[in-house]
Amino acid sequence: MSTFRFFAVAGLSLCSIAVIAQESPGLGELVSSDELAALDYAVLPNGDGLPAGSGTAVEGSTVYQQYCFACHGDKGSGGINDALSGGHGSMTSKSPVKTVGSFWPYATTVFDYVRRAMPLSSPGVLTNDQLYAVTAYLLFINDVVDENDVIDAKSLPDVKMPNRDNFVWGYAPGT
Ligand code: HEC
Repeated sequence: MSTFRFFAVAGLSLCSIAVIAQESPGLGELVSSDELAALDYAVLPNGDGLPAGSGTAVEGSTVYQQYCFACHGDKGSGGINDALSGGHGSMTSKSPVKTVGSFWPYATTVFDYVRRAMPLSSPGVLTNDQLYAVTAYLLFINDVVDENDVIDAKSLPDVKMPNRDNFVWGYAPGT
């Protein structure tokens, strides 16, 4: 490509970007770094990323009644949306019932999921203590922890989910 053609092409693409920017509908506003930081989180299976705070199932029962019961039903079943308890041992049956207790491999994912997605209509309303408490409650109604076990960043990664060992890697290491 001649030097002239190179500059001509480069100039054209800069013009195109300027035109695109001009044609933007100008909706919304720039996200501030604080707002971004409030959403930029992830909890890994080993607990990395878990925040400070703690809660028990007893405390979580109150959170559950207020924020979750309407959709997920009494003790996590019989509601209008997904069952969160029960189904244990059904994964190898002809009609597996996937719930937090019967299917999910990591307890830390419960915290991460609820923090980012629940309650459905207003995720983000729960404090970290309430999130630990309601996580403890979901684990309690699945017979995974006791009612008064304190769930926090240290204890949650140590909770072993019933279906944990039934997950296998789809690919051999290194492939
Ligand atoms: C307005 C109804 C509503 C409320 C209130 C609500 N949820 Fe949910 N929840 C849903 C729906 C719908 C889904 C399925 C979402 C999907 O599949 O994408 C769901 C999914 C879930 C799941 C994943 C279930 C699975 O096995 O895939 C968990 C865990 C959960 N909710 C916990 C909670 C907790 C804890 C609260 C209270 C803090 C709560 N939800 C409040 C409607 C609700």
